[in-house]
Amino acid sequence: MSEGDAPRFRRLLVTGAAGFIGSCFVRDSLARRDGTTIVVLDKLTYAGNLANLAAVEADPEQAARLRFVEGDIADAAVVAPLVADVDAVVNFAAESHVDRSILDPAAFLRTDVMGVHVLLEACRIEQARAAGGDRAAAPRFLQVSTDEVYGSVEHGESREDDRLEPRSPYSAAKAGGELLARSYFVTFGMDVVTTRGSNTYGPYHHPEKLIPLFITNAIDDQPLPLYGDGLQQRDWLHVADHAGAIGHVLEHGVAGETYNVPGNNERTNSEVVAALLERLGKPWSLVRRVEDRPGHDRRYAMDGSKLVALGWTNRVPFGEGLAATVDWYRTNEAWWRAIKAGDWDDYYRRQYGGRLAGSREAG
Ligand code: NAD
Ligand code: TYD
Repeated sequence: MSEGDAPRFRRLLVTGAAGFIGSCFVRDSLARRDGTTIVVLDKLTYAGNLANLAAVEADPEQAARLRFVEGDIADAAVVAPLVADVDAVVNFAAESHVDRSILDPAAFLRTDVMGVHVLLEACRIEQARAAGGDRAAAPRFLQVSTDEVYGSVEHGESREDDRLEPRSPYSAAKAGGELLARSYFVTFGMDVVTTRGSNTYGPYHHPEKLIPLFITNAIDDQPLPLYGDGLQQRDWLHVADHAGAIGHVLEHGVAGETYNVPGNNERTNSEVVAALLERLGKPWSLVRRVEDRPGHDRRYAMDGSKLVALGWTNRVPFGEGLAATVDWYRTNEAWWRAIKAGDWDDYYRRQYGGRLAGSREAG
């Protein structure tokens, strides 16, 4: 959608939009100034950050179309009245970090499965109200899922109807959430669409994830903990393209369908790290080879032809997007230093303390 086009869904409930991708979706949607109003529901976990929406709050016209509610998607009493007032729900809210799902899976089941269930039930009530003439139409529900539900893909590219073989508590919970969403389409005839995005990068990415962790550690000349041989492959998608594709599926996706959102930029982790260090002017000697992640998926890759057929193409070339991302972290130190000053140290020690003690230079 571009500035001026009238959106199909004007009143949105966007969950998890104090996080990385959801906040981009909200910033970009409101910046189109097409009359869209957004209620954000976010629990403000360690990953939620109101600073990610500061650009909206700084613009009175956009701020007037945003309402922020702090709350849990798994809390029916909070969710029901919000869903009653919108045309569509876009569910970004999730526990999103694979390493944390290995340390503590329970939070992933609660939010990524049970939270989806609560949102779906609220939409089902609204569907009944629409059938009874109490509202014009039932809300559309868009579930933001991930390529990780396919599991590790040694060869070729996953297509939407391939078998799901999630291998981490994170991806298993995400698979549970999206299967539940689809079941509400099949069983209750609800208007459900799902996207499966690939590894996303860009500004406002929490520094627990590979790219922002390595940029921010390198700025401080701290070790970069590369898991295993560093030859795992990921397909990198710029956050503006991921958010844009989700908006496109919200507008144009066919009810009951799932759409892959690939980046078409497959790189090994070592290649990505080398590119980051080059942009930063920092040496490879910062890289430490550390004990691998248990159950580490070797490769993700998706076929994106279904989304292309729906009319979407990515816009941000990987080299440009990565360079701009490095530059963003260099010029926005206050944003990530505030995160690394919070409860970060405990997490870092748990996740990396032993690993770094037993590490070696990557050579
Ligand atoms: P993130 O961790 O940056 O943000 C998650 C947000 O959800 C945070 O603001 C957090 O406070 C909020 N949240 C967590 N639990 C909640 C709850 N119970 N109720 C309400 N809010 C809650 O995540 P992200 O990287 O922006 O990912 C957004 C979505 O996209 C997730 O569903 C994730 O699975 C999916 N996804 C992410 C990627 C990626 O590479 N980051 C790729 C594909 C799909
Ligand atoms: P991550 O950003 O956690 O995304 P995902 O696990 O969802 O793909 O990790 C991207 C890749 O980088 C993945 O192969 C794991 C690897 N990685 C490291 O080597 N070291 C790290 O400290 C982190 C966080 C990730």
